[in-house]
Amino acid sequence: MALRPIKNCFDPVLRKQCEIVKNIDGELITLSNDMIDTTLAAPGIGLAANQIGVPRRVFVVNMGVETDTDNLITLINPEITAMEGSESGKEGCLSIPDVVAEVNRATQIEIKAIDLNGNDIRYEASGILARALQHEMDHLNGILFWDSLGKVRRDILKRKFKKKLKEQEE
Ligand code: CO
Repeated sequence: MALRPIKNCFDPVLRKQCEIVKNIDGELITLSNDMIDTTLAAPGIGLAANQIGVPRRVFVVNMGVETDTDNLITLINPEITAMEGSESGKEGCLSIPDVVAEVNRATQIEIKAIDLNGNDIRYEASGILARALQHEMDHLNGILFWDSLGKVRRDILKRKFKKKLKEQEE
């Protein structure tokens, strides 16, 4: 078990357009295992590779989030293939701890990816899981959940988070 430090939202790696994974090798398996351990320990619903400083198109998500069971899977080179509906809901991010905001997301989505065995996988999701998948997908494109909020609201949250970081330093 290896935990990796989670980068905060002001680290430039969180703004990276992450790179397509070409090989599923030992390094990627280790990355995936560490991401799962780090997510469970946080605890969080999901984690994108760039959140631990690796700008590649990989994220982990807890597929059991709706039923309170831990079932973390790794999605490689994921793509959202369909989106339907829109709903507002509370959202947070392990890179912006203790900051929560209402964010609009599609209600239902379809996502495809590659698993650790190199197989094509496809999921339909709704509710919290659909929200989590859209949130992690955004990370791979350098987007943070507060980007979709108005500037005033975002600046308030940024100030709140900066204040918290400063308090931790003291
Ligand atoms: Co996040």
